[in-house]
Amino acid sequence: MSIGTIIPAMPRPRLRRFLPLPFLLLACDEPAPPAHLQIVGGNPARGRAAMLEHGCGACHVIPGVRNAVAWVGPPLTEWSRRGYVGGRLPNTPANLVRWLRDTQGISPGSAMPDLGLSEEEARDMAAYLFTLGAGRAPVQPAGMPTGPDEAGPRPEPRLRPGLRADAEAAHARPAGAPSAGTE
Ligand code: HEC
Repeated sequence: MSIGTIIPAMPRPRLRRFLPLPFLLLACDEPAPPAHLQIVGGNPARGRAAMLEHGCGACHVIPGVRNAVAWVGPPLTEWSRRGYVGGRLPNTPANLVRWLRDTQGISPGSAMPDLGLSEEEARDMAAYLFTLGAGRAPVQPAGMPTGPDEAGPRPEPRLRPGLRADAEAAHARPAGAPSAGTE
């Protein structure tokens, strides 16, 4: 049964013009990654093909890569939302490329072997991985503060304005001084 028989009212030439539309929409369901997650010179389509070729799917779940459904390593779904690479480096484009080229150098003894990738292959793969979850990528630089003094750049206030004034006043009090609400 052709589409024409299902929607007989639509004139055929017009129908043909609109048919590719759903496929186009499917192809662009993820927006491009934000600027700080883009890989200079990386080609996502080539990277996806290279991951198939290099068998990354023998150990990882990677959306969009055929047969990449294994759970030996962590799933690489929604990659651009990830905070760290291998639990070692903040998840930036440069660090992901480094990880892919020198896994054992960064994390000696890791269960992920060195795979002998060229710089170009690693860049392409990283470019593809950063398309995953790009629409939900954090706007802040990757990595989490590991202590109160290492909060890093945080453009947005962490407390509501009223609470912030209280917190700043509490901070300004000498140690041991009673706080406003308790006496
Ligand atoms: C033999 C299994 C194996 C193969 C093959 C493999 N990996 Fe891994 N990969 C792992 C394991 C295990 C880890 C977790 C290692 C760690 O944290 O030290 C990992 C970690 C990663 C990470 C970091 C994940 C995270 O959550 O931080 C990325 C990215 C990655 N691999 C990409 C790739 C790509 C791309 C390929 C193909 C070029 C590949 N891996 C091939 C096993 C593998």
